[in-house]
Amino acid sequence: MEMEQWMRKGFHRLAASPSANRMARRWGLRFGAARFVAGETLEKALEVVRDLNHRGLEVTLDHLGESVSDAAEAAEAARACLDTLEGIERTGVRSHLSVKLTQLGLDIDRSLAEKHVGQILERAGQAGTFVRIDMEDSAHLPATLELFREMRRRYDHVGIVIQAYLYRSEQDLRELEDLGANVRLVKGAYREPPSVAFPDKRDVDQNMKKLIDMHLQSGCYTAVASHDPQILRHTRERVEQWGIPRDRFEFQMLYGIRPDLQRDLVERGYRVRIYVPYGTDWFAYFMRRLAERPANVWFVLKNVGRH
Ligand code: FDA
Repeated sequence: MEMEQWMRKGFHRLAASPSANRMARRWGLRFGAARFVAGETLEKALEVVRDLNHRGLEVTLDHLGESVSDAAEAAEAARACLDTLEGIERTGVRSHLSVKLTQLGLDIDRSLAEKHVGQILERAGQAGTFVRIDMEDSAHLPATLELFREMRRRYDHVGIVIQAYLYRSEQDLRELEDLGANVRLVKGAYREPPSVAFPDKRDVDQNMKKLIDMHLQSGCYTAVASHDPQILRHTRERVEQWGIPRDRFEFQMLYGIRPDLQRDLVERGYRVRIYVPYGTDWFAYFMRRLAERPANVWFVLKNVGRH
């Protein structure tokens, strides 16, 4: 257990390290990262989307990147999001778009991130594509919620994420429900101190179920993003019990994780959306997947020999 915690801490440190991320960008997809990342180019990612669509799965594409501290880089990231929207429209695949505000300049200047998200939402509106703003670490949460509220006043096709590991999430969700917000509920993927987040996984799981119940009952659209069979079962029981129509909620999972569960839910007739990341900035995302499940490190070691 101690070993596992030590490994988690190490992966989170690597995820946040600018030099490790810079170095990885030059490597190409390595160490088994291709299991979780669809490819380095948009064209490769669109092929993956097409294949998932054929298997009855919906998608949300994510052009990888975060923690940008240079305005030119943030503008380039916004451009890549616009290109992704263009690619979705051009090929006719069924996909939404997910974005991270720190990739679009939130750390440089809030108004820069706002300008970029506005451009993306404007373009997405023309293409009829839904855009979800991912939630990052708790330091960025207040600004992310504020910017979301601003965008929600102007656009319907925008959603947000709430993390069950944070104590404040129940209150945040209640406020989002007043806006009729489409919310993706997740457990939370960042390293947070016990002053802001439940340190015990059982409390996180409990809170996740509570938030799922709240949001399903609010009448707002609910995206339950988890690979945890207990959470999936809980959601299925609740939607049956409360007669929630199948077009009012969906399940979401990450590309490369538990394809068996993805298939099972599709076969049961549920809407399932796969989060498909692509691009050269894969390192931080990959490190978070290792932190979630340190046992994945064996998979990495198996792949080291192949490069
Ligand atoms: P849990 O961690 O309890 O895992 C349950 C089971 O799932 C495990 O036993 C294992 O079988 C499998 N599993 C989980 N993670 C795995 C991994 N990395 N590798 C292999 N198997 C794994 N977080 C966030 O903070 N902000 C966000 O915006 C998002 N967005 C997002 C979108 C989507 C579509 C998903 C599915 C998840 C996110 N997350 C996220 C990540 C989320 O917070 C959480 O870290 C992961 O989903 C893992 O939690 P689970 O609910 O799967 O449960």
